[in-house]
Amino acid sequence: MTAILTPTRKPIVLVVDDVRANRELLEGHLFELGYDVRQAVDGIDALEQIDAEEPDLVLLDVDMPRLGGLEVCARIKSHPLRRLIPIVILTALQDRTTRLRGLEAGADDFLTKPFDAKELLVRAKVLLQDRELNKRLDATETVLRAIARAVEVRDRYTIHHAERVGRYAREIGEQYGLAGDDLAILYMGGVLHDIGKLAVPDAILLKPGALTEAEFAVMRVHSAEGERICSSLRSVSHFLPIIRNHHERFDGNGYPDHLRGNAIPIGARIVAVADAWDAMVSDRSYRIGLSREEAHRRLTAGAGSQWDAAYVELFTGLLERGTIDQIASAQYADAAA
Ligand SMILES: [Fe+2]
Ligand SMILES: [Fe+2]
Repeated sequence: MTAILTPTRKPIVLVVDDVRANRELLEGHLFELGYDVRQAVDGIDALEQIDAEEPDLVLLDVDMPRLGGLEVCARIKSHPLRRLIPIVILTALQDRTTRLRGLEAGADDFLTKPFDAKELLVRAKVLLQDRELNKRLDATETVLRAIARAVEVRDRYTIHHAERVGRYAREIGEQYGLAGDDLAILYMGGVLHDIGKLAVPDAILLKPGALTEAEFAVMRVHSAEGERICSSLRSVSHFLPIIRNHHERFDGNGYPDHLRGNAIPIGARIVAVADAWDAMVSDRSYRIGLSREEAHRRLTAGAGSQWDAAYVELFTGLLERGTIDQIASAQYADAAA
């Protein structure tokens, strides 16, 4: 039975070739397979069509006027969101150089001219399945982000806290020499670090005065609870150590695992510094924010006991260069917009 609750959409395949006969041949095969086929006559046309509507698969000729296929491929693969669109380069048989250049440009697969209809079918199917999985992974992150926002909305004092922590953590990581996926993990880990506050009742989360010891014990479950909420989602497994261990202390007196020093996951040590700073300088329901000077004094005093001194030092550098203030004010501008 066809699905009725989920709108079905045929996968869009963009065929890019300057030779009309080639485009039509491919379109004929792909149409039979049930795909929504679009045509582009060169690289520029392809990029314009991709801008207008993202395809699920691109079949790309190499030699074309205006803009060649390898350049188009490299451009799509360097785009933060479009890089997940699978790209097949169409090459002549035995053209090793083009294949190597295609791999360098980030191509996912190759198809040899003249086309074999069966080969085309298998390759298109596999790549479209990957594409579907990638889209779901994307969706998981988007949903978690929405939940993290929902947590903040409950408490007007922490609005944008998580976003700032993610951005500060990414900056510290960059100063430390991390790059690429590691920075993305620091950012998302920072955004999601307090997601477990979902499990903390309003009476405690929004209490205007200081918490009692019993209430504080409930508040403390949020880090382990956050890990539990996200643990069934394979795509966010990299963030779990940050979520679980962001309240560990360098001297071993933190929670929930009382880890000490380098036993604390590196992402959690970085996020702990970012989180502490943002918590100290922000107003909360039970107190107004500290001055930057006082917050920095406390951060330095806690280096080596509460926090990893190496990251406190990197954070201090970011403060001195004005990076932290820039991130904070960019956030306030976003909030006002
Ligand atoms: Fe927290
Ligand atoms: Fe936090």
